[in-house]
Amino acid sequence: MPHVVILSSSIRIDRASHRVALFMEHKVRERGWTADLIDLNALQFPLFEERLKHLPDPPASVTGFADRVRRSDGVVIVSPEYNGSIPASLKNVIDLLTDDWKGRPVALCAVSSGAFGGSQLTMQLLVPLWKIKAWVVQPALQVPKVKEAFDEQGLPGDAEAWDRRAAPVLDAIAWAMEANERMRT
Ligand SMILES: Cc1cc2nc3c(=O)[nH]c(=O)nc-3n(C[C@H](O)[C@H](O)[C@H](O)COP(=O)(O)O)c2cc1C
Repeated sequence: MPHVVILSSSIRIDRASHRVALFMEHKVRERGWTADLIDLNALQFPLFEERLKHLPDPPASVTGFADRVRRSDGVVIVSPEYNGSIPASLKNVIDLLTDDWKGRPVALCAVSSGAFGGSQLTMQLLVPLWKIKAWVVQPALQVPKVKEAFDEQGLPGDAEAWDRRAAPVLDAIAWAMEANERMRT
């Protein structure tokens, strides 16, 4: 059974993209997979100083985060778009773990309050994830007008429409996780 991390990236007061993280956690569990929702707001990470492998005395929050990502078969990144790009909180942890992203299936969920669903973020994220050799699957989930689409518990107003959009994203990461598993055996 695949084990999937859902990475909730926004640490902003009154954040809304966390709603999508809750929704994706639910969708992952619905498939019978195990899910680990990593909430960067709860971890309160220090600002990046150096990659984990070079840190002489990393804080427990950092090593604990790394262990949780290493235990996963795939990661669903849920992130807001800030100024057409990646929030610092997410870039912080992408840079931190370099080696651990290598070959790991990653699905992207871009979230915005505007009409375009974080499409610029999706493009921007491809560069660092490609550099560190993560296996980014297609398609990505794009969530525009997030507060209209999801409530605070992550329940969509139009469940059928959001199930239809989330399904191919999870199908794609399922394929990559299974391919990795088969290559290991
Ligand atoms: C610093 C900052 C920059 C933002 N830039 C964009 C943007 O470029 N495009 C967009 O559609 N929304 C932008 N937004 C709005 C976010 O999409 C909105 O806050 C949404 O709820 C997702 O972020 P959150 O999870 O932090 O709430 C920005 C918000 C902040 C705080």
